[in-house]
Amino acid sequence: MSSSCSGLSKVLVAVATALVSASSLCPQAWGPPGVQYGQPGRSVMLCCPGVSAGTPVSWFRDGDSKLLQGPDSGLGHQLVLARAESTDEGTYICQTLDGALAGTVILKLGYPPARPVVSCQAADYENFSCTWSPSQVSGLPTRYLTSYRKKTVPGTDGQRVSPSTGPWPCPQDPLGAARCVVHGAEFWSQYRINVTEVNPLGASTRLLDVSLQNILRPDPPQGLLVESVPGYPRRLRASWTYPTSWPRQPHFLLKFRLQYRPAQHPAWSTVEPAGLEEVITDAVAGLPHAVRVSARDFLDAGTWSAWSPEVWGTPSTGPLPKEVPDESQPQVQVETVAHVDSPALPRPSLQPDPRPLDHRDPLEQVAVLVSLGIFSFLGLAAGALALGLWLRLRRGGKDGPQKPEFLAPMIPVDKLPGAPNL
Ligand SMILES: *[C@@H]1O[C@H](CO)[C@@H](O)[C@H](O)[C@H]1NC(C)=O
Ligand SMILES: *[C@@H]1O[C@H](CO)[C@@H](O)[C@H](O)[C@H]1NC(C)=O
Repeated sequence: MSSSCSGLSKVLVAVATALVSASSLCPQAWGPPGVQYGQPGRSVMLCCPGVSAGTPVSWFRDGDSKLLQGPDSGLGHQLVLARAESTDEGTYICQTLDGALAGTVILKLGYPPARPVVSCQAADYENFSCTWSPSQVSGLPTRYLTSYRKKTVPGTDGQRVSPSTGPWPCPQDPLGAARCVVHGAEFWSQYRINVTEVNPLGASTRLLDVSLQNILRPDPPQGLLVESVPGYPRRLRASWTYPTSWPRQPHFLLKFRLQYRPAQHPAWSTVEPAGLEEVITDAVAGLPHAVRVSARDFLDAGTWSAWSPEVWGTPSTGPLPKEVPDESQPQVQVETVAHVDSPALPRPSLQPDPRPLDHRDPLEQVAVLVSLGIFSFLGLAAGALALGLWLRLRRGGKDGPQKPEFLAPMIPVDKLPGAPNL
């Protein structure tokens, strides 16, 4: 009971103190208590706290007995400095006529706020954030008030727009981070961001119109993996995943861009993969390659993401894995020959391969040729075998003497003019 009573009396004292200081009419600027603010080169008016307005006081610098302004100045409880300079910064004391200390004031000089520089960015299709920085250093305690409105809502007929709604606060998280976040924004709507810089000398507002679809810039793809393909000395397989900040939705997909270059080669080759992986087929055999990917909204809203960190991979130099059939062996040998024949071989000069990126692997072409060769050889062999059999059968059907000579099948033709010419 007594503790609640003492609590109540503390509150009453606080209220009374507040009333007394309010009656002094000293504007309590935002900032630390007891500090008043002015601008260099301008006149500054200090206000004696703890006295009511109009009470005549004497002003001194703290620690200096020289009278700055007497009680007969006609300015009451205020001290006027005609042109404030940095040497005027410091502590001032005001005294009432009876010599009692009325109050102390600290003067700090600085500049009024200037319109801050604001930019907004979105790493997904629902949320965006705005960041800001002062366009001029005020030298004073500063805070920012951040809010936004939905500017226009496109009507169904494309003409009508509903009046703007809001404003709503744009929460700063954490406070003092020079960043606020708008959650659950509409992709097609226009928003007007209000960032107001406030300091004890005033406020200055910057308005910025943004729409998600213009500022959208995904984070780079993640988990980039570059692997060799055993048995294919010119191939590299790259795979990656969506950035975790981009939840996959049917209406909001990403497309990708992949770049690769051999070590010590300055220029990147670029491809636009269809999915979350790409097989590079014109890598330089034996050289490490740098690979990187970036992402963009698949309908081209906003801009490309930054590049992912580079990942290095070297094409395989080993043979094909065991489960691949034996015909592969000649393919690999012919592949080497094809390299020697190719005038566009990038290996010696490290020039970029001028052939289109989706050209077929020479290895595959050679494989087709080899199988064609095998097929035609088999066809020829089968034809020869059939011919031999036929001739042999024909000859065996005759009553003529058996001749051991190789050209024996021809002999009956010579001897039988009625036989068809072969
Ligand atoms: C937007 O932000 C909220 C809250 O952080 C989050 O849950 C949501 O997944 C975000 N939306 C997208 C599309 O990333
Ligand atoms: C911007 O925000 C400030 C501070 O909240 C407010 O005083 C001002 O009226 C706003 N300006 C506009 C144009 O909305």
